Amino acid sequence: MRILTGIQPSGTLHLGNYLGAMRPAIEGQASGEGYYFIADYHSMTSLLDPAERRRNSRNVALDWLACGLDPQKSVFWRQSDVPEVTELMWIVGTLTPMGLLERAHSYKDKLAKGIAANFGLFAYPVLMAADILLYDTNVVPVGRDQKQHVEMTRDIAIKFNQTYGECFVIPEPAIREDLAVVPGLDGQKMSKSYGNTIDLFGDEKATRKKIMGIVMDSRTPAEPKPDADQNIAIKLLKLVAPADVAQGYEDRLRAGGLGYGDLKKALFEHYWNFLAPYRARRAELAANLDYVDQVLRAGAARARATASVVLQRARQASGLA
Ligand code: TRP
Repeated sequence: MRILTGIQPSGTLHLGNYLGAMRPAIEGQASGEGYYFIADYHSMTSLLDPAERRRNSRNVALDWLACGLDPQKSVFWRQSDVPEVTELMWIVGTLTPMGLLERAHSYKDKLAKGIAANFGLFAYPVLMAADILLYDTNVVPVGRDQKQHVEMTRDIAIKFNQTYGECFVIPEPAIREDLAVVPGLDGQKMSKSYGNTIDLFGDEKATRKKIMGIVMDSRTPAEPKPDADQNIAIKLLKLVAPADVAQGYEDRLRAGGLGYGDLKKALFEHYWNFLAPYRARRAELAANLDYVDQVLRAGAARARATASVVLQRARQASGLA
């Protein structure tokens, strides 16, 4: 079974990204053949700074390798290193109805926000379909916001197969329903767009400051807090500390006698320790960028081996070859 997902190289990752997308993908390496790529072509629809794109792509590679992506087990590459995907985008684009693209939520949301539409933004789901179809993908793990794009990919693949004969594997979206929602510093879902994130690899001082700045209510330390399980720091602690430790803090908060400052200090310590092995690994990789580049190049060669077979099949089916 082939599992594929694209990673937007959009700046700094936070705990919500890690628990929601990275960790499941990295754990998924044990159960299927993982194809993971850095979606730098896609980033062009929202980012126009070349140096920043390069830096973001490299940072995201460091982040994923540091957190356990194993380039021996999985195929890991940068999208633009396999430019065949753009040819497939054209081929499947000619079978993609305008109406389908006009109904895309993410496109409509961007228009509603006043972002000027261009062809790339409109065609974003077609490029994504090409990403998925080019690698004979069976399963695409995505967040809810991307489910529609995978459904569009299915529609496009089915239409191609009907028009030109069996060619593409029809992929399934996999939405993880069992994942805990990661609360941000303000208690809403952690998200870059709410500005309530804790960076995965932020420096110590800034991370401590963010955590100590979580706003709590004005009850005194001594007061019992029957709603201890609703406390943001407790919820976060459950995600980064051993279960019995987090439960211990929850019980003390409920009983009364644990101050919010002490609770937040404990959260910081556990947060910091939780990420310590990844932080160390990331520092090693950052000191060895040649190795990282070599991993991506080797990944691109493996990805291309699959891509060229599928593209040739699509060319043949459609009479280009
Ligand atoms: N659009 C995805 C996102 O914003 C990234 C992506 C690009 C992707 N191509 C993909 C995800 C193919 C899954 C499959 O997160």
